[in-house]
Amino acid sequence: MRISDPLAAKLADLGVEVQHGVSLATRTSLEIGGTTDELILRRYDRIAEVMSLLANEQIPWRFLGGGTNVLIGDGELSWVALHLASSRNGMRVEGNAAYIEASADLGGAVTFCAKHDLGGMEGLIGVPGSVGGALRMNAGAYGTQIGPHVREVDLYRAATGKVETLRGADIRFDYRHTSFALNDVMLHVKLELPSKPYKEILAGIRVCNEKRRASQPLNQRSAGCIFKNPPGGSAGRMIDELGLKGFRVGGATVSDRHANFFVNVGDATCADMLGLIGAVRQRVRDAYGVELENEVILWQN
Ligand code: EPU
Repeated sequence: MRISDPLAAKLADLGVEVQHGVSLATRTSLEIGGTTDELILRRYDRIAEVMSLLANEQIPWRFLGGGTNVLIGDGELSWVALHLASSRNGMRVEGNAAYIEASADLGGAVTFCAKHDLGGMEGLIGVPGSVGGALRMNAGAYGTQIGPHVREVDLYRAATGKVETLRGADIRFDYRHTSFALNDVMLHVKLELPSKPYKEILAGIRVCNEKRRASQPLNQRSAGCIFKNPPGGSAGRMIDELGLKGFRVGGATVSDRHANFFVNVGDATCADMLGLIGAVRQRVRDAYGVELENEVILWQN
C-alpha cells in the first residue's frame, strides 16, 4: 500500500514521517514480511487527527510494535504499517506507580522499574517486544503476566475516534488474550508494582534468564511460541513427542531446542511458515485429537 505525496505532506504536518517501500522483514523478529509504506508517528497528541485522515483517505493500517509476535504475509501488502516513535522520557516512576510509553521496550521497562526498586515483573525480562504489544497479548512467562499490574491504559480507540483512558479493572486479561479491540492503539500504561530491593529483583531476573537460555532458541529468528498451550497441556511437549524437531518446510523449521518455536533458518517466506504451522497442527490433531490455536498473530492481506 502506497501513500501519495499530497497525503504524505498532510501527514508530515501531523508529525508523521512516511518511509516508502519498507520490507517488513526488517521490522520483525522472524525476518519475514512483505513490503509497504511505514508511517512513524512522532506526536501522540495528534494521533486522533492522523487516524481520522487515514480513515477519510481509506488507507487500511496495522499497528506494528516490536514485531516479535507477528507473522506477516509475503509480497506487496494491502495496508500501511504504523509505528509509534519512542521518546527519550518514555518512563517515569512515582511511588509504586510506573508510567510507561507503549513504544518502550518491555525488557527495558522491567529493568527501569527494577532500578527504582519496583519488582513483580522479573518473569517478563526476556520476553521480546514493546510494552504496547505486551499489553495487547497479556504477555507472560515464568508465572508473571503483565495484566494484574495494569492500573490504567491510555489508548486511541478507533470505535470512538478518541484517545481514552481505561481502568485496569475494566480490561479483561486472559491467557495471551485481552478485551482490547483489534484496532485499539496503546499509548501509555500506568503499572502498580510491589516495592523490592534492586538486588533481589536482579537475582530473580538472573534465574529467569538462565531458564530461558536453557530452553529457548534465543539467538535464532523466531516469534517465540507459535501455538498457545491447550488447556492443561503443552504444545511444545506434544510436538517434541511426535519427533518433529527439525521438521522443515522451505526455510522454516521446528526448533531443535524448543518444539513450539518455529525458526527462520534460511530465507523463509510467510508461505513456508504457514505450511509448517499447518503440517504440525495436522500431526498434533491426528495424534492427540487436539486443535492447536495460533499464539503468533497472523497479518496477511
Ligand atoms: N517441552 C518438551 N519439549 C520441548 C519444549 C518443551 O518436552 O521442545 C516440555 C518441557 O520440558 C516442559 C513443558 O514442555 O515440561 C513446558 O515447556 P516450557 O517450560 O518451555 O514452557 P512452555 O509451556 O512451552 C510457556 C510459554 C512461553 C514462556 C514459557 C516460560 C506459551 C505458549 N508459552 O512455554 O512463552 O516463555 O512458558 O514461562 O504459553 C511465548 O509466549 O511466545 C512464549 C515463548
